Amino acid sequence: MSSRQERKENVIKVLNEARSMELQAIHQYMNQHYNLDDRDLGELAANVKLIAIDEMRHAEAFAERVLELGGEPTSELHGSIKKGQETVEMFLHDAEAEGNAMEAYNQFARVASENGDSITKKLFEQIIEEEQEHLNYFEDVAGHIETLGNVYLARVAGTSSDTGGASKSFVNQA
Ligand SMILES: [Fe+2]
Ligand SMILES: [Fe+2]
Repeated sequence: MSSRQERKENVIKVLNEARSMELQAIHQYMNQHYNLDDRDLGELAANVKLIAIDEMRHAEAFAERVLELGGEPTSELHGSIKKGQETVEMFLHDAEAEGNAMEAYNQFARVASENGDSITKKLFEQIIEEEQEHLNYFEDVAGHIETLGNVYLARVAGTSSDTGGASKSFVNQA
């Protein structure tokens, strides 16, 4: 039987792995939303931006749990980001990334459980549900582009990329 410290370290390790996946996703999705904005696909840009903000919350939630367990939150990105993707490529790529995250987090939830950490297990389970929503959206958009092509993109062209200024931040604490 491993010591409590060893069990904590096993959990910190998977939390940090998940955090580095989130940090990569944040950079990837930000890069994509700038490109989508450039292509004047406002509605898609806005949703990808909002999803990047979800990933920031996830990265913070994992860091907070790492700190509670006495560890150090990683600042490493899981891998490099892809640039210059075609629009359909972005959404296919993102759907796959979300599926990979869900698979990894399911495994990490098991690691947390095996190491007696129900709080971390629950955290992974909550975040998996949000990744599922991201996956659904990315798949829907990729599907629309694949079946409708330019008809779909023409409908989205010129839509607003405004996500509203209402999300809470340091200068916007309302
Ligand atoms: Fe996430
Ligand atoms: Fe996600």
